[in-house]
Amino acid sequence: MLANLGCMKNLDVAAVVTGGASGLGEATTRALTAVGVAVTVLDLQEERGAALATELGGHTTFVRTDVTDESSVQGAIEDATGKDRPLRIAVNCAGIGWAQRVLARDGSAHELPAFTRTVMVNLVGTFNVLRLAAAAMARTEPDDEGERGVIVNTASIAAYDGQIGQIAYAASKGGIVGLTLPAARDLASVGVRVCTIAPGLVDTPLLASLPEEARTALAAGIPFPKRLGRPEDFAELALDVVRHGYLNGEVIRMDGALRMAPR
Ligand SMILES: NC(=O)c1ccc[n+]([C@@H]2O[C@H](COP(=O)([O-])OP(=O)(O)OC[C@H]3O[C@@H](n4cnc5c(N)ncnc54)[C@H](O)[C@@H]3O)[C@@H](O)[C@H]2O)c1
Repeated sequence: MLANLGCMKNLDVAAVVTGGASGLGEATTRALTAVGVAVTVLDLQEERGAALATELGGHTTFVRTDVTDESSVQGAIEDATGKDRPLRIAVNCAGIGWAQRVLARDGSAHELPAFTRTVMVNLVGTFNVLRLAAAAMARTEPDDEGERGVIVNTASIAAYDGQIGQIAYAASKGGIVGLTLPAARDLASVGVRVCTIAPGLVDTPLLASLPEEARTALAAGIPFPKRLGRPEDFAELALDVVRHGYLNGEVIRMDGALRMAPR
């Protein structure tokens, strides 16, 4: 019965993972490599990216990439399509945070460049990779289910429960939630699925820099499990989305039922 389910059974394929040098992207790169996928890591962090590719060896490569730059992403996609297997997977994890209120205590307004930059990296960067990866996937032969590929984006629960000071970040992630369904609809004709994961609080280098006390307090606010998410939780879900051929156009919260309070 299970064998009849539509799913990506053959993982002898190539993938691009943005933000793949750290946190969620790194865990996803490791998980994909472990099941035999040839991953191209796209990240700004040259040292970490190159070290990861060396550690994982084989078909894993690193291309220093700025996701907001057209030719930079095109170059990385060419690395992925130059491997001896079809590009079928793109996972967008590259992202940045920004904390600032619309108005500061002294009444001054949110910096416009900071808002623009956050939207540029998180939303426009995701779209840039999505469109160029989709174009490359569309040129491959479909599998026996008619599938050519799958794109997994990373939003955040801030897209729904943005906190005080999260306006730029929440807007950028809300944009990713919003593009998920139209992207899936646009790409249905070429057999490319699009899903988005909206993580809650995950223990990446970002949160690891907080004092233990603050991390414990954050974890205590999560209904169940009462712990921060692990990067591996995200990687496993990304892999589930890749394998599950009937998941499409959906945003999946991965947050232990956390709903964030205003602050
Ligand atoms: N950690 C969490 O709790 C959490 C929760 C919700 C959503 N997210 C989202 O998950 C994604 C990954 O976050 P993380 O916690 O792993 O952070 P991280 O900082 O560990 O990793 C992000 C990576 O993106 C790369 N990057 C940033 N700008 C880039 C650019 N212009 N081009 C290419 N690469 C770029 C960074 O160099 C870094 O390696 C982000 O989009 C983040 O917003 C994280």
